[in-house]
Amino acid sequence: MNILLIGSGGREHALAWKIASSPLLTKLWCAPGNAGIAREAECIALDVADHTAVIAFCKTNAVELVVVGPETPLAAGIVDDLEAAGIKAFGPRKQASQLEASKGFTKALCSEFGIPTGAYRRCTSAAEALDYVRAQGAPIVVKADGLAAGKGVVVARTLQEAEDAIAMMFEGAFGSAGAEVVIEEFLEGREVSFFALCDGETAIPLASAQDHKRVFDHDQGPNTGGMGAYSPTPFVTAEVHDQIMDRIISPTVAGMKARGTPFCGVLYAGVMLTKGGPKLFEFNVRFGDPECQVLMLRMMSDIVPAFLAACDGELKHFDLRWFPDSAITVVMAAKGYPGDYRKATRIEGLDEAEKIDGVEIFHAGTVEKDGAILANGGRVLNVCAIGKTIAEAQARAYQALDRINWPDGFCRRDIGWQAVEKERGGN
Ligand code: AMP
Ligand code: GLY
Repeated sequence: MNILLIGSGGREHALAWKIASSPLLTKLWCAPGNAGIAREAECIALDVADHTAVIAFCKTNAVELVVVGPETPLAAGIVDDLEAAGIKAFGPRKQASQLEASKGFTKALCSEFGIPTGAYRRCTSAAEALDYVRAQGAPIVVKADGLAAGKGVVVARTLQEAEDAIAMMFEGAFGSAGAEVVIEEFLEGREVSFFALCDGETAIPLASAQDHKRVFDHDQGPNTGGMGAYSPTPFVTAEVHDQIMDRIISPTVAGMKARGTPFCGVLYAGVMLTKGGPKLFEFNVRFGDPECQVLMLRMMSDIVPAFLAACDGELKHFDLRWFPDSAITVVMAAKGYPGDYRKATRIEGLDEAEKIDGVEIFHAGTVEKDGAILANGGRVLNVCAIGKTIAEAQARAYQALDRINWPDGFCRRDIGWQAVEKERGGN
């Protein structure tokens, strides 16, 4: 089978690596890809915003399945357009992508179907938003409604911070994504990522993971797209797992079906484990990045039949197997990220790093030039490892990291700390 993968990050490198191991695969392309993905797939310079061009490529090359990694093409309706052209595509259609593309849409769905989440108000003017936050007090969370590349959320510790965030969003900091703002109750607890594979009717759990959003050790500094992750997380016990499936994932899938906009693809729930049980604070309509990297390392089953079963509405009879091991990924980013950073700096030592048992390196933002690997983004590498325990996986990943010579890069040194502490007998 010929497959086209869309995306260029570490998530897509992990997906390409996993798809490439499938006996069902004949040929894999990736648009646009990166230097690491080029080891698994033929990278092609296709403008993925141009759906007609993507369809033409698929027809010319007899592509039978398109796998969409990031949210932007999903929200732009690439799956609808591919399906209309008779090409199978993994990921939600435009209407169902609203679960990520509009925070207000998701909050309304939660209200309609009794899905546990924080109290909220949707606001279309600064005056309305200011009135609401002043009545509620801080801490409180201010969110741009639309897609804002992971930057549209301000967790305001003080009323002043909330007021500043409201002003910034209504002044157009996120363009039309901030024309509506959702003000949400601050949820206190431990944050986990939970993934389920959906076919419009049935949802099967994939795995849990924990991301590390802040840029510096001990969860300091600004939020990022994610500086590292591990899976499984010990905080998602069997009981919590069932609660998330029963109270969040299943009612969402049933609700979307009832509304006539069934959800197919990966449903990623950002969940806060509060004293009152798990509460949803956001949905994404795709794999997490970097959580996908650790999920792919742990997945024993072939992923291609899973994608096909999701597209065909056949998940009811489907089962996925996982390695019991723990997996971790540490992100190496360019110094300055998530602010300004230099590009085209040289990275060495990757081959030596990958020689360590259980280690896999996925590229998030690299290019190859004259045989050298150069940084080409904010998040640049995912140094991943698998181990019998999270502590073993962590030790391997950092051992590999120390073999990489990239003076212009940095990473957090504490990825997985909460799970390691728990493994050692803490809480
Ligand atoms: P997002 O960009 O939606 O992933 O949100 C960024 C981060 O903001 C999340 O990872 C959470 O840590 C935090 N966050 C979002 N909503 C809430 C909430 N209601 N209460 C507390 N923290 C939140
Ligand atoms: N790891 C966060 C995200 O993928 O949105």
